[in-house]
Amino acid sequence: MSVHQKVRRVTTHVLNEMKLQGIKIAMLTAYDYSMARILDQAEIDVILVGDSASNVMAGNESTLPITMDEMIYHAKSVVKGVSRALVVVDLPFGSYQGNSKEALTSAIRMMKETGGHAVKIEGGSEIIESVQRILSAGIPVMGHLGLTPQSIHKFGTYVVRAREEEEAKKLIEDAHKLQDAGCFAIVLEKIPASLAAKVANELTIPIIGIGAGHEVDGQVLVLHDMLGITQEFSPRFLRRYHNLSEEIKGSVKSYINDVKSLDFPNEKEQY
Ligand code: KIV
Repeated sequence: MSVHQKVRRVTTHVLNEMKLQGIKIAMLTAYDYSMARILDQAEIDVILVGDSASNVMAGNESTLPITMDEMIYHAKSVVKGVSRALVVVDLPFGSYQGNSKEALTSAIRMMKETGGHAVKIEGGSEIIESVQRILSAGIPVMGHLGLTPQSIHKFGTYVVRAREEEEAKKLIEDAHKLQDAGCFAIVLEKIPASLAAKVANELTIPIIGIGAGHEVDGQVLVLHDMLGITQEFSPRFLRRYHNLSEEIKGSVKSYINDVKSLDFPNEKEQY
């Protein structure tokens, strides 16, 4: 039995062991109790309460509008459904970029009010002081480089990042800085597979990819995208495992028909 199958609870230490043993890490997002419970029962390694909740739960165009209070609501619900997976919570836009004291205050509040196990923040050299300060309070930090959706208005587009040598060089330097500062893992989003492989090889901490090829230590997808609940979003890296929106529509249509035709409820379904 491998390390992640033996454990009763996935910790940052277990993830490190998985990297050492070459066992890939599977991570998915969740934003509510019921979904988190299903993911945990299926033995997902890591659940990310992503600020993608802003898009898939709240219907916003970007991750920028979601607030601390809203992220806390989602994370609290997720934690209640989980007994095995490591729960990582995104610190939302505006809650850590100001200065390291603000970052620490936000991270402490997130941990205290949700029961999550770690926080994730986006960025490289510009957030190192915040990473160090959050870690000094004993809070594990996951980094996030490449396409960082909280900076979408700076990038101007969701195209693949770090194709050019200069940006690739900075990304590698940033990854080293995050590791040296004490991050337990880093998400690399939408960058060339060869660059992600280089980072995963050079670093000792787990590298989790999304649109970053398979030569990394694990993968993450947004749950609503991989289940086919969201339909408009179809980047090349997304594998859809289901067409849940069609299935849900089918069930809803059947229900409507049953109600209107007086088929539901029948005699056995009443008191
Ligand atoms: O918020 C999110 O879902 C994320 C993943 C895409 C990594 O940050």
